[in-house]
Amino acid sequence: MCGIVGYIGREEAVGIIVEGLRKLEYRGYDSAGVSIIKDGKTDIRRAVGKLANLDKALRDKPIFGNTGIGHTRWATHGRPSEQNAHPHEVDGVSIVHNGILENYMELKHRLQAQGRKFKSETDTEIMSHLVASHIAEGRNLIEAVRASLKEIRGAFAFLIQHEKEPNKIVTAKTASPMVVGVGKGEMFVASDIPALLGHTRDFIILEDGQMAVLTADGVELSDFDGNALPVKTKHVDWSPVMAEKAGHKHFMHKEIHEQPTAIADTIRGRVLMEDASVHLDGVNLGDVKKLRRLIITACGTSFHAGMVGKFMIEKLARLGVDCDLASEFRYRDPVLDEETGVLAISQSGETADTLAAIKLAKSQGATVFAVCNVLESSIARECATSGGVMYTHAGPEIGVASTKAFTTQLVALYLLAIYLGRARGVLDKGAAQKCLEDLREIPSKIERVLATEASIIAIARRYAQARDFLFLGRGPNFPIALEGALKLKEISYIHAEGYSAGEMKHGPIALIDDKMPVVGIATEGPVYDKTVANLEEVRARNGKLIILATEGDSKIAAIADDVIVVPRTDPLLDPIITTIPLQLLAYHIADINGTDVDQPRNLAKSVTVE
Ligand code: AGP
Repeated sequence: MCGIVGYIGREEAVGIIVEGLRKLEYRGYDSAGVSIIKDGKTDIRRAVGKLANLDKALRDKPIFGNTGIGHTRWATHGRPSEQNAHPHEVDGVSIVHNGILENYMELKHRLQAQGRKFKSETDTEIMSHLVASHIAEGRNLIEAVRASLKEIRGAFAFLIQHEKEPNKIVTAKTASPMVVGVGKGEMFVASDIPALLGHTRDFIILEDGQMAVLTADGVELSDFDGNALPVKTKHVDWSPVMAEKAGHKHFMHKEIHEQPTAIADTIRGRVLMEDASVHLDGVNLGDVKKLRRLIITACGTSFHAGMVGKFMIEKLARLGVDCDLASEFRYRDPVLDEETGVLAISQSGETADTLAAIKLAKSQGATVFAVCNVLESSIARECATSGGVMYTHAGPEIGVASTKAFTTQLVALYLLAIYLGRARGVLDKGAAQKCLEDLREIPSKIERVLATEASIIAIARRYAQARDFLFLGRGPNFPIALEGALKLKEISYIHAEGYSAGEMKHGPIALIDDKMPVVGIATEGPVYDKTVANLEEVRARNGKLIILATEGDSKIAAIADDVIVVPRTDPLLDPIITTIPLQLLAYHIADINGTDVDQPRNLAKSVTVE
């Protein structure tokens, strides 16, 4: 999830590009760079870290020209460094890229065999070499880009320029965003509208499989084969602040709706269906057969992800898993040894309790590794010298309440479970293939849940004034009950408790009355009947029941005041689906009550103190 900006026109490009990148820093900021063409020459400045470092590089050595491309990076392949910063230039061809090229390794090996030398660890540099090699064979820039697009697979949004054809910028996209800003005698292009609102309100939103050639006088749109397409311009009257949220009222709402894409990005490049294998780039657990047990340690929402991961790993890999709150782990004098794996889950990679937990584990000889969303974060660096890191590709999560990071953690844990099951010889190819097929359907199933948002808003309106909520679930949905309660209380300040449905009769049922809404997760699965029985006990005591049920369930309506229907999926994947309506319910109740959804009182996005 990087930020990209390009400009071609009569003004100096560098100022427009850097100003646009600044508006996109929320898309990632571990390095940045610009490439400007003037008098047939390319001049590039790149800097690690925040955009301010690029600013300084440009002040120290200014560059001039009216055509250029720029990039602020959220690293997925290759650690944050100047070498890995975009743009990548090869033989006068400069490229910036947002996305993940799935087949970059095979292309890299082929290009190296042809004698091409690589300067970075990125997948993007492959594209620079591909385009440059096609130009070397006599093609012009547009032909070279078309030829290269036929060879790559994955998610991408490119800006490409060539110093020998300085009067154009070529862009092409699939699965990553790109918009063209229409000016008079100048054209703009960026990953996202906010970057360009200061210059134009007329945009062409590129669609997957489209390529555009920008000149100062206009834009030509086509498909990757060169078939011309009609240009549809959209007028946007968003305020700049609204634009950063892509028209959503809050970042949290935007991030809830980004989950299908974030999940697809987290799966991308890690699954080979032919042999039902999972490739966890960056994780190195050695001989996993030697692992006797796994401890998952985390905090808050990430801890709830770990609790779901326990079900996934024990079921698919037959490996015993314990879940430990990171803030408790160090103080219980845990039994650790070389046969213990310790997995830290952290969105920020900076949570002090989790960092301390893995440092202790590492000091006692355990193999520590992480599921993390921020490259080169403290937890990622601590694990890099042990079992490594599996990154979720959720992109920066701005809302304090974790949503897309949580569901991509669940996906990462599911992939880890399959990987461990196959490596330990307890999950056969057929079973793994079924798991991967089920997983691939998750993004579209989440889209279907998101499409029911209006009905969840209606439920939120009915219960927004309640002062206490109870969330109930069993099996892999027990952690989702905990997560649903956490989401509600942390953004709406309404007291909410998550509980195992089976535990109701051991005390909490005394709380039930007609003023306490009870959210029950009663989707299809091995614990369905028991869960329904627990909810009927609530009903019998005049409890108000909001029940999540699997589509086609005709029984639940008889006991529920409100039903939220979700698509059917494998019980181990069900938590990824059932958490979505609970995110939306919490969000809309909070929004109705007017709390600061993105930055709730007393909370921080990353808790770097113990
Ligand atoms: C999530 O909604 C919370 N804001 C919080 O519980 C968070 O999950 C917890 O602080 C852990 O953060 P981490 O994932 O960055 O380690």
